[in-house]
Amino acid sequence: MSRILVACFSASGVTAAKAKELAAAANADYYEIQPAQPYTAADLKWTNSLARCNREWIRKQKPALSDTDAPVADHDVIFLAFPIWYYTAPLIINGFLEQYDFAGKTVVCFATSGGSDMKKVVKSLTPSAPGATLQEGLMLNGGVNATALEALLATL
Ligand SMILES: Cc1cc2nc3c(=O)[nH]c(=O)nc-3n(C[C@H](O)[C@H](O)[C@H](O)COP(=O)(O)O)c2cc1C
Repeated sequence: MSRILVACFSASGVTAAKAKELAAAANADYYEIQPAQPYTAADLKWTNSLARCNREWIRKQKPALSDTDAPVADHDVIFLAFPIWYYTAPLIINGFLEQYDFAGKTVVCFATSGGSDMKKVVKSLTPSAPGATLQEGLMLNGGVNATALEALLATL
């Protein structure tokens, strides 16, 4: 078992593909964060103000998770991978952090997006992970940057 776990939420598959590359490159274990009710294409249509994604965001409603047995306790470094939603992490990531005990663990964020960066991510996730060390990792839009990943791994 690796000391690193890649925990990934991906609504339409883009982040999952990159996160699997990340797990292979970092020799990490892999776990997929899934909502109890999967997102349909209609749920993700953010141009429709009534779509599920917009309703959840406006109400700050964290969707229920599909399971409660992510192997968080077995790892001391968690790589969290997700798509950027509304310029930050999706609320399901806050819910995932709140579901488990991350105190004393290092949580490194990785994301894909349509162009936005992850500058707001650590601030919006910090209240959900008391006692954890949260940090920005790498954007994965262009794939996994091997040199940048090596440099990051050397700091952990
Ligand atoms: C509800 C929603 C909100 C989004 N908000 C942003 C955003 O603020 N900035 C951005 O660059 N991309 C945004 N996107 C695009 C996604 O970040 C991008 O398509 C991502 O690669 C999708 O990853 P996935 O297939 O793993 O879900 C948003 C997508 C959705 C569905």
